[in-house]
Amino acid sequence: MALNRTVTILGTGSYVPEKVVTNDDLAVLVDTSDEWIYSRTGMKERRICAANQATSDLGAEAAKAALKDAGLDAAEIDLLIVATLSPDMFFPSTACFVQDQIGAKNAFCYDLGAACSGFLYALENARAQIACGAVETALVIGAEKMSSFLDWEDRSTCILFGDGAGAAILQARDRGRGLMPAVMGSDGALADLLWTPGGGSRNPISHEMVNRKEHFIQMQGRDVFKHAVTRMGDAVMATLEKNEIAVDEVACFIPHQANIRIIDAIAKRLDVEDRMFSNVEKYANTSSAALAIALDEAAHEGVLKSGDLAVLTVFGSGFTWGASVLEWGENQ
Ligand code: ACO
Repeated sequence: MALNRTVTILGTGSYVPEKVVTNDDLAVLVDTSDEWIYSRTGMKERRICAANQATSDLGAEAAKAALKDAGLDAAEIDLLIVATLSPDMFFPSTACFVQDQIGAKNAFCYDLGAACSGFLYALENARAQIACGAVETALVIGAEKMSSFLDWEDRSTCILFGDGAGAAILQARDRGRGLMPAVMGSDGALADLLWTPGGGSRNPISHEMVNRKEHFIQMQGRDVFKHAVTRMGDAVMATLEKNEIAVDEVACFIPHQANIRIIDAIAKRLDVEDRMFSNVEKYANTSSAALAIALDEAAHEGVLKSGDLAVLTVFGSGFTWGASVLEWGENQ
């Protein structure tokens, strides 16, 4: 018989590298200013990895914090998903490196590629597997070392991103509504508005490709901005409708942390300015880690209280987007 169990987030954790890079620090590298960056993006600083840190190192630290928060041992994890666009290497998966670092020896592990939407996609992936009884306990991580994929001479992209990781532990529970089924979507026709065109099978690594800087992130900022506002706003409304919840019942909205002006535009459209969570000022855009870190901070800074309904929403390269509703439980 098919199961449809309620799935709860038991614990969360996050980790950001020690090194803080301010807007003034960036103004030494490229022709920009604190005023330009802050007024266009709401960012003041971001964290950047040490040279010897890789994405799995960040993910493992976030995972350890989430396991501690949930009161679980790594050996109890059945499923380990890492959402990332900046893997340690093409293969094996970054999830396997995290598994080894934290000792999750009973887990099966894989990476999920949905760019900045990855953490929500991975949450939904884990939720569905737990809900149907395929697995009991999942560890979902969003981890990025964006700094390895940025052109530090391109002021239109390098100022926007940071490094970091966040994690959540999921299990079935009998009470509350937990993490409800998500609404997600993609539009591959718009892939070239935000991508890293070089280094894969279509445009393999070569001196010429590297000289053209095609191994770095490229973006059409204005187009991305417009699509992000529309898609996240629509996804929030669709997931609320799907789960029969009114906007007024939601205590907190936690969007992907790409840019404060994107977040403000969604808040205005939904008329929820007083309930929008943001930490983009401190970390800039950490891609798939951004929602994971924001969720962890909202949980541990007392923004989310037991019984609260929270909406998570994301948008990223692909394009990809989605939104979920979550009833925050007592045991978080
Ligand atoms: N410092 C100073 N000037 C700059 C900088 C900079 N860092 N970057 C660009 N400029 C200049 C441009 O050269 C241009 O100059 P010009 O008018 O002389 O040609 C001018 O500023 C305006 O450039 P625009 O790109 O049109 O600036 P805009 O107001 O659109 O802001 C921004 C750019 C912040 C990137 C905006 O488009 C944006 O936020 N887009 C969303 C993109 C985003 O968040 N992507 C993240 C990845 S997607 C995701 O996570 C979902």
